[in-house]
Amino acid sequence: WWNPMLQQQLCMHISLLFIFLFMFSKKNIFIQVTASPVTDCLHPLHRKFTRLPHLAGTEQNLRYAEQIRKEWLEFGLDSVEMVPYDVLLSYPNKSQPNYISIVDQLGSEYLFTALVKVKCLLLLSLSLQGDLVYVNYGRTEDFFQLEREMGINVTGKIVIVRYGKIFRGNKVKNAMLAGAKGIIMFSDPADYWAAGVQPYPDGWNLPGGGAQRGNVLNLNGAGDPLTPGYPAKEYTYRFSLEDAVGLPKIPVHPIGFHDAIHLLKNMGGPIPPNNWKGALNVSYKIGPGFTDDFRSQKVRMNIHTNNQLTRIYNVIGRIRGALEPDRYVILGGHRDAWVFGGIDPMSGAAVVHETVRSAGRLLSKGWRPRRTLIFASWDAEEFGLQGSTEWAEDNAKLLQERAVAYINADSAIEGMYTLRVDLNTYCHSCSLLLYAVFLSFSLPPSPEEGEEGVSLYDSWHKRDNWTNDRDAPRINKLGSGSDFEAYFIRLGIAAGRARYTKNKITERYSSYPVYHSVYETFEIVERFYDPSFKRLRAVAQVRGGLIFQLADSLLLPLDVNQYADSLRKYAKSIAQLAQRHPEQMKMYEVSFDSLFSAVENFTIAARDFHERLQTLNREDPLQVRVMNDQLMYLERAFIDPLGLPGRPFYRHVIFAPSSHNKYAGESFPGIYDALFDIENSADPEKAWEEVKRQISIAAFTVHSTAMTLTPPA
Ligand SMILES: *[C@@H]1O[C@H](CO)[C@@H](O)[C@H](O)[C@H]1NC(C)=O
Ligand SMILES: *[C@@H]1O[C@H](CO)[C@@H](O)[C@H](O)[C@H]1NC(C)=O
Ligand SMILES: *[C@@H]1O[C@H](CO)[C@@H](O)[C@H](O)[C@H]1NC(C)=O
Ligand SMILES: *[C@@H]1O[C@H](CO)[C@@H](O)[C@H](O)[C@H]1NC(C)=O
Ligand SMILES: *[C@@H]1O[C@H](CO)[C@@H](O)[C@H](O)[C@H]1NC(C)=O
Ligand SMILES: [Zn+2]
Repeated sequence: WWNPMLQQQLCMHISLLFIFLFMFSKKNIFIQVTASPVTDCLHPLHRKFTRLPHLAGTEQNLRYAEQIRKEWLEFGLDSVEMVPYDVLLSYPNKSQPNYISIVDQLGSEYLFTALVKVKCLLLLSLSLQGDLVYVNYGRTEDFFQLEREMGINVTGKIVIVRYGKIFRGNKVKNAMLAGAKGIIMFSDPADYWAAGVQPYPDGWNLPGGGAQRGNVLNLNGAGDPLTPGYPAKEYTYRFSLEDAVGLPKIPVHPIGFHDAIHLLKNMGGPIPPNNWKGALNVSYKIGPGFTDDFRSQKVRMNIHTNNQLTRIYNVIGRIRGALEPDRYVILGGHRDAWVFGGIDPMSGAAVVHETVRSAGRLLSKGWRPRRTLIFASWDAEEFGLQGSTEWAEDNAKLLQERAVAYINADSAIEGMYTLRVDLNTYCHSCSLLLYAVFLSFSLPPSPEEGEEGVSLYDSWHKRDNWTNDRDAPRINKLGSGSDFEAYFIRLGIAAGRARYTKNKITERYSSYPVYHSVYETFEIVERFYDPSFKRLRAVAQVRGGLIFQLADSLLLPLDVNQYADSLRKYAKSIAQLAQRHPEQMKMYEVSFDSLFSAVENFTIAARDFHERLQTLNREDPLQVRVMNDQLMYLERAFIDPLGLPGRPFYRHVIFAPSSHNKYAGESFPGIYDALFDIENSADPEKAWEEVKRQISIAAFTVHSTAMTLTPPA
């Protein structure tokens, strides 16, 4: 039924409809809404950019970059440039594929796993063999349980863990710390199957042969492993591979569950606790090694992955701001994909492309945003957020001075239920910005069948079951795992993301079943996730709405009172964590008084600032600019130039990716990490001294940030 030419004409037509002016007042704050995107070209766009595999560093990914550059210029952006970097990527060797086998005492191999072309960054080609130990999800607590309760030592063993719960790189790090010499990861149906859904192509569940690709680096925000802190330009000094940041020192290989059954079915050793059992018809015994009948068999990992200095390309487009060209609002998302990228990232890249088209249409009608808009198509996100991080490093000085906000545009869908929004604290339970986005278009309708005439906002409200006192949207903390990381956590730029998600109460599987597998295709989106492309459109309206709001409103739609509320909540919760050790707190004289005092000072400063905002003379551009600058630089003030202990590129004192799961956000991460597992510390006095040091850093940072909100004189 679908005719691309017709669709193309249709979307031109619809785009013409969408300029409108809208004024409204919410808590006496006026926001002028000048534009919101109405997008209808998502279907053909998504088709176009998912036809061919386009891994970072390949010819095809460069072609897509060139095509994007050309089209953004045609859409009418003021400038579009390709920005290359030379970074360390890794690829499997085509003539010597990676695989896992079982070998007997004569050394003959008789089980081969699928030859998945998967990367894991490695220093060497190697084959090694040994006994398996099963360690559940490979989380910190799983290894603690293995070592402390079961008394099993994995030194010199190959660890096998299931995917899910945490970032895979943290599993690899945990296995290395425990002394394992290799790690195999598999997707268990317990974690990657939705109930009552068929495996692809009859449904959207992960087939048994499907393996999840993904990087296993522990970069902690470094970007290119050879040039931490600096952009990977031609002249940039590069570390040797031995000094590279975050590369695993052991081989890593992912497999599907058909292969996992062969490895797990003859395992010996203790029966695992129930929460270590997945959904396969095997006992999930821990090992080490196989049962007595199969004792002579070993598992062999044959890994031949090569590191290669590779050129990658970001595409950067700009619309110069009419009144404040030196203030930047950024919409960025990656383009590189493990294979076709049907969901990750092209469902998001299509949204960016469509937003650029909408902006171009507006420009041709005479509109120009108040502030500068920057659009980015990042490369090599899948290899550790490299394209976005290198560009952030390249432009760090400019961005520190000028960036207002960064909105991320990775996968637009991970489910079919409702909206999900993650923002930094400015918007925590949430505020003006989202009100503005949604009130600006009473237009965006719910994409769900049976909700005709219901707005997206009301649908979200009902489906997400908000029950907080303000009846405000549920907003999640930002963790990491996508390209906003360097902007928010290293540079201190307000950031956010929005996507369509699953029902997290009833759908308990990890991410989405085909995540990072070869089955992430255009067809899975068109047939199952979003046949009408209305969900993608809803996400486009939210992401586009966010950046148009941020670029166009007279006063930045950021709410300092919200920040104060969140700080109070985080301070309370970190103090409660410490208070689980009342004797130690007394013995070592640990107190949170300074942090609470700082939060109180912040609360007062925020309230006063908010009051001044109400009486601000909006006709006075200098006064408006002064307050906008205070709003913009507030996030920057939370940056500690020294970074967190051992993580120099994670510099935000309020937020960092968890040290145990990069995907999750931790508040007051310095204090949290100092308290972690403190009851087992070898030197409790030293450990509690570190807690005290971290509390003082947090208190100082919060108080001094509060001072940036006080009147200029
Ligand atoms: C890939 O494997 C082949 C065959 O073993 C070998 O000759 C070649 O050097 C390898 N390529 C790289 C880049 O290491
Ligand atoms: C585990 O075994 C290795 C070598 O066999 C040994 O060096 C190490 O101390 C053991 N670890 C523990 C926690 O017992
Ligand atoms: C589970 O595995 C056992 C032993 O291999 C087999 O006898 C049984 O039929 C299997 N059950 C199912 C439901 O496949
Ligand atoms: C909404 O949340 C409340 C409080 O947690 C709960 O009682 C209620 O059943 C939930 N409703 C839905 C539809 O999930
Ligand atoms: C909070 O402000 C009060 C009054 O200015 C000051 O005495 C106190 O030291 C501040 N708290 C912190 C942690 O700086
Ligand atoms: Zn992605």
